Amino acid sequence: VKPLKVALLGCGTVGSAVLRLIDEQADDLAARVGRPVEVAGIAVRRPAHHPDVPQHLLTTDAQALVSRDDVDLVVEVIGGIEPARTLILAAFEAGKSVVSANKALLADDGPALHAAAAKSGVDLYYEAAVAGAIPLLRPLRESLAGDQLRRVVGIVNGTTNYILSRMAETGAGFAEALAEATELGYAEADPTADVDGFDAAAKAAILASLAFHTPVSAADVYREGISAVSATDVARAAEIGCTVKLLAICERVENGNGDSVAVRVHPAMIPTTHPLASVGGAFNAVFVEAEAAGQLMFYGQGAGGEPTASAVLGDLVAVARNRLAGASGQGPTGYANLDVRPIADTPTRY
Ligand code: HSE
Repeated sequence: VKPLKVALLGCGTVGSAVLRLIDEQADDLAARVGRPVEVAGIAVRRPAHHPDVPQHLLTTDAQALVSRDDVDLVVEVIGGIEPARTLILAAFEAGKSVVSANKALLADDGPALHAAAAKSGVDLYYEAAVAGAIPLLRPLRESLAGDQLRRVVGIVNGTTNYILSRMAETGAGFAEALAEATELGYAEADPTADVDGFDAAAKAAILASLAFHTPVSAADVYREGISAVSATDVARAAEIGCTVKLLAICERVENGNGDSVAVRVHPAMIPTTHPLASVGGAFNAVFVEAEAAGQLMFYGQGAGGEPTASAVLGDLVAVARNRLAGASGQGPTGYANLDVRPIADTPTRY
């Protein structure tokens, strides 16, 4: 049987975990897809930095790799806007479906990328871009497609959740908890994207776009980080039965002439009885309220090579099945195009 060939773009923490899982799970993947899944090539900037991967697969010419005739599917785990955007568009042009883990790009330009995929009749899946291993985007896009979502509230940044959890557990201040998170490898050397809420805002934009079928970009998201949260704030919250969490909140709000969408990221006090209050450490969780389904919660590991690679592999199986069926799971890209509003008039109770 002719194998299905995958081009891997990027081979960092996530890419190398994807590579390892494709190898280790080869028999299961073949059984689930209906054909063996093989890596056709791996595009990296510096091949010398990757002594552990099969050297004959390495290339520095990602553009040529995505258009190669023997490549069926593309997995993009480079991150950032460029060259990822150009490479994904080139893959679509060449008729290849793409699996991406790129939250920055999807939050910046998701609707245009979906339109380009639809035009080429191929798939764009990106489960790994939000909340790592947690199956969340396909449930929003597919399982709940027949329902009306009211609100999506999530803890989607593990670094800040770790810091806030430690502040609550130990009484430490923000700076002390951040130093501990950095030492233990939870926080990056430059923690700005996490601590100031940019990472969560990108994820919120992606969640809101899927939940409400309305284009929302990171620039539409009101954003406050956690650096101003003090030990006193956390202690006072505890005194009144609350815990402080950095929340990404995506809501459908009614206004006089039709619904609109409001998206925001900020620290919030939630009662300790709320399911999100029990999410500790670097875990992520997303609480969804839908008209017919009622309340749902998705919980798990939101970062790390293996958990993120698990989500990439799940998407890989989905797009491979679609490809072999001669179909696309893309669906129409028609958006509801609700207004996207600032937050001032959207009081929320948790
Ligand atoms: N820095 C992110 C976090 C990694 O802390 O959740 C996953 O996107």
